[in-house]
Amino acid sequence: MPLEIMEKTLLISKETIHAKVKELADQLSSDYKGTEPVFIGILNGAVFFFADIVREVSISVKIDFIRAASYGSRMESSGKIQLTKDVELSVKGKPVILVEDIIDTGRTISHIVKSLEAKGPESIRICALINKLERREATIQVDYFGFQIEEGFIVGYGLDYDEKYRQFPDIYSLCART
Ligand code: IMP
Ligand code: MG
Repeated sequence: MPLEIMEKTLLISKETIHAKVKELADQLSSDYKGTEPVFIGILNGAVFFFADIVREVSISVKIDFIRAASYGSRMESSGKIQLTKDVELSVKGKPVILVEDIIDTGRTISHIVKSLEAKGPESIRICALINKLERREATIQVDYFGFQIEEGFIVGYGLDYDEKYRQFPDIYSLCART
């Protein structure tokens, strides 16, 4: 659908996002107390969520990034996922927290989890800002999430439509103009 015929409505305000990020960071700080987890941000979508959450945790952490490309349409992933940037820190024997913007079908995160498992981490948990349920295919456990939505396509706070809108501080729902 061309951008000109899409309309956006505010779904989650930046204040609500920031309160939730603090809540998740407090939970992670408590669950991982006494350990030094590796937080891995999934580029590009998780960039702001990742930057905000790692600055709110009160335990010692290491950070790294991974990038996955999925060659699909503008609104869904194709299932053909390729890692275009791998982690550079060693995760062997370490607790890993994967930080993702949104889990939709679950294909992207499943692919990333499989590739990380081969590196022998102590554990892998998933922390997603948005858990979107309607199109879920993969059987995955989203250990931590900020918000759950049933359906729809959302943008802002890192989430894009055709690489646009990522920089918006709030999250909007995109819908066809009638
Ligand atoms: P999955 O592999 O279907 O779980 O898709 C995950 C990826 O699809 C995310 O990292 C996003 O890049 C993209 N995606 C899925 N739903 C949305 C949405 O509502 N807005 C923006 N991007 C989305
Ligand atoms: Mg995307």
